[in-house]
Amino acid sequence: MNARSTYKIITYGCQMNVADSQLVAGELAARGWERVDDERRADLILVNTCVVRNSAESRAVGRIRQLAHLKRRRPGLVIGVLGCLAQKDGQALLERLSCVDLVLGTRDLPRIGSLVERVRFGGDRLVSVDAIEQPAAFAAGALRDDRLRAMVTIMYGCDNFCSYCIVPYTRGREWSRPADEILAEVRRLAETGWREVTLLGQNVNSYRDGDRDFADLLRRVARVDGLARVRFITSHPKDCSERLIEVVAGEPRVCEHLHLPAQAGGDAVLSRMNRGYSREAYVRLVERIRRAIPHAALTTDLIVGFPGETDRDFADTLDLVRAVRWDEAYMFMYSPREGTAAAAWPDDVPLPVKKERLRQLIDLQERITGEVHQAHVGTRQEILVEGPSRRSSRILQGRTRGHKVAIVPGPESLVGQLIDVRITRASVHTLFGERLEAHA
Ligand code: SAH
Ligand code: SF4
Ligand code: F3S
Repeated sequence: MNARSTYKIITYGCQMNVADSQLVAGELAARGWERVDDERRADLILVNTCVVRNSAESRAVGRIRQLAHLKRRRPGLVIGVLGCLAQKDGQALLERLSCVDLVLGTRDLPRIGSLVERVRFGGDRLVSVDAIEQPAAFAAGALRDDRLRAMVTIMYGCDNFCSYCIVPYTRGREWSRPADEILAEVRRLAETGWREVTLLGQNVNSYRDGDRDFADLLRRVARVDGLARVRFITSHPKDCSERLIEVVAGEPRVCEHLHLPAQAGGDAVLSRMNRGYSREAYVRLVERIRRAIPHAALTTDLIVGFPGETDRDFADTLDLVRAVRWDEAYMFMYSPREGTAAAAWPDDVPLPVKKERLRQLIDLQERITGEVHQAHVGTRQEILVEGPSRRSSRILQGRTRGHKVAIVPGPESLVGQLIDVRITRASVHTLFGERLEAHA
C-alpha cells in the first residue's frame, strides 16, 4: 500500500490567517498531501497562530504543547508553527517547544512545500522567518472548504503602527497584490461557482496598484461576471475615502457593510493609540456613510483598559457606542504586546477594572445589537443561501447584505442563490424570516 502523506492545519486568529491556511493547504495538496480531520491520523500538523493579545498567544502555545503527546505515539509526526507567533519568536520557539520541527513566518508560508519535505525526510528542524519584507507568492491556488464564499487577500502587512498593536511587526510592511492578479483569481472563482468574495487586508483602504486605489479595485471586482456579492474587511476610519463610500453605495453587488474599528471613544486615548482620527472625525464619517448608504451595517472593534484610560475616558467609549449604535462590536481588554509603543507605558488599569469595563461595554452593545436586530422585523432582506441549517434540511441558513445570520424555511435547492425574505422575528444573534416571491 502506498498511502499518501496526511496533514491537518489548526488555525487561530483573524481571517488573514484563515486565508493563509487555505493557501498552505493548496500548496500541500499540489504536492500530493491529503488532508485529514483527525489529528491522530496526520503525518504533519501545522498550527497557524495569532499573538494579537496574550490570550490568543497562550491558546496557540497550549495547543502546540498538547500535540507533543501525539509525537510520542506517532514517531515521524512533523509539527509546524506558522504565522504570527512563528514570525514573532522565530528560532526561540524551537528552544521553548521541543516538539516543534518547523517554524514558518507570515511571509515564508509559500515555502511550506519544500521545507516540510526537508523536515520529514531529512530530519532537520527548520526556521524560516526572513521573507517578511518580500511579497509572498504561492505556486498553487488556495484550497477552500466553502464552495460559495471565498476570501481573497488583496494586501499584506500594515504600516499604521497603532501603539498597542503587534500586527505591523508580525506581518511586515504593507504590500498590495497587483490588481490584475486579484481580478484573475476572482474571475476563476466566479467561473467555478463561488458566489461571494471577501477582499481581505489589515487596512484595505491603503490598497494601491500604481495610481489605482481600493475604490477602483472594489468596483472592478464587483463587476466580475457571475458573482453575487462582494465584501471587504478591514477599513481604517482614518482613510475611508468618499470614493469608497460611493462605490459601496453605487455598486449593487457590494454589500453595505463596513467594519470600521473605532477602538475608543475619547480623544486622549485615540491619540495615544496613534489611530489618526478624533472622536468627532469618526462620528462625522459615520454620518457621511449613513447619508450615502441609509441602511449600511456598521461594525467595530473596541478596546478597554488602554494605558491611562480613566473612568471619564471609558465613559466616552460608552457614549460613542450610544451615539453610533453599531450593528455589532468585537470588544477586548487591552493586552500589552512586547515591542509595541504602548508596552513601554505602565499597564495601569487594574484587571478587575478592565473586566468590569468590558462587562459594561458588552452589556450595552448587546442591548443595542438586539434593538438593531429587532428593527429588522418586518423588513425585506436579500439573503445569500449558504446551506441547510444545522437543525433541518428544510430550513435554510444564509446572511443578509449586512452580514446578519438569517434562518428561513425552504428547499435545499436554493443553496447558492439570492432570495428575498421578510423578517418575522429576531434574536440577539439571528434573524428569522419567510421567503417572498422569486428574486428579480
Ligand atoms: N487591522 C485591523 C485589526 C487587526 S487586530 C484594524 O486595524 O482594524 C483586531 C483587533 O484586535 C483590533 O481592531 C483591536 O481592537 C484588537 N487589538 C489589537 N491589539 C490589541 C491589544 N494589544 N490588546 C487588545 N486588543 C487588541
Ligand atoms: Fe494593528 Fe492598527 Fe494595523 Fe489594525 S491598523 S493591524 S490595529 S496597527
Ligand atoms: Fe492575530 Fe496575526 Fe491576525 S496576530 S489578528 S493572526 S495578523
